[in-house]
Amino acid sequence: MRKKIVAGNWKMNKTPSEAIELAKLLKDSDTSKCDVVFCVPAIDIIPVGEVIKGTGIGLGAQNMYFEDEGAYTGEISPKMLVDAGVSYVIIGHSERRQYFAETDESVNKKIKKALEYKLIPIVCVGEALEEREKGIAFEKIRMQVKLAFEGISAADAEKIIIAYEPIWAIGTGKVATDDQAQEVCKEIRNVLNELYGGVSENIRIQYGGSVNGKNAAGLFAMADIDGGLIGGASLKDEFKDIIASVK
Ligand code: 13P
Repeated sequence: MRKKIVAGNWKMNKTPSEAIELAKLLKDSDTSKCDVVFCVPAIDIIPVGEVIKGTGIGLGAQNMYFEDEGAYTGEISPKMLVDAGVSYVIIGHSERRQYFAETDESVNKKIKKALEYKLIPIVCVGEALEEREKGIAFEKIRMQVKLAFEGISAADAEKIIIAYEPIWAIGTGKVATDDQAQEVCKEIRNVLNELYGGVSENIRIQYGGSVNGKNAAGLFAMADIDGGLIGGASLKDEFKDIIASVK
């Protein structure tokens, strides 16, 4: 039985002092039914970590570099994340692929490096509207998953979380229907089954893209959707309603 996981992706929002306020607002989120994670901007990791200490809420980063340390101005290493109390790291978010030249190859390198440091990668995949309209959404996602997991053992694959985030649903208010989201998450599990056999049943797959307090319950009830990666609605009290939607 896969435990559901609801993670907030705060993106580039909240200064350190604002982040402390938001973490205080959300720190009583119910962690009894699912894993709950706050993926916060790098500069907010330490102050938010202080606020949520002892709550059961996991601390996550939104990116990392694939080297241990060195002359990579502006980057943050997995070693730094671990030392700061981070347990999860989002890798390959579509915004990073789109604006910061993240590729399937760098995603794969980052996943391997994160695993080396026992960080849990939340790996994002998803198709653009144009790809969906051309009928190539499945091909796109199959390829992203295969390249992300290249060279990763079954034992490691089991630790990874995948977030299916259709690009057309991110920040648009245009959520995928329960069936659309389920169809793709099922296809992702099919790919994982081709790669790892039965282990695919243990890998958690989240849906992300305009999830809110009203549509979360329907999405989370689908057979292959194991929770959500939440953007806008993770910055308000509504995040708790989303968590409460986990049955
Ligand atoms: P929204 O929930 O704001 O659509 O963002 C989804 C997302 O990109 C989470 O990573």
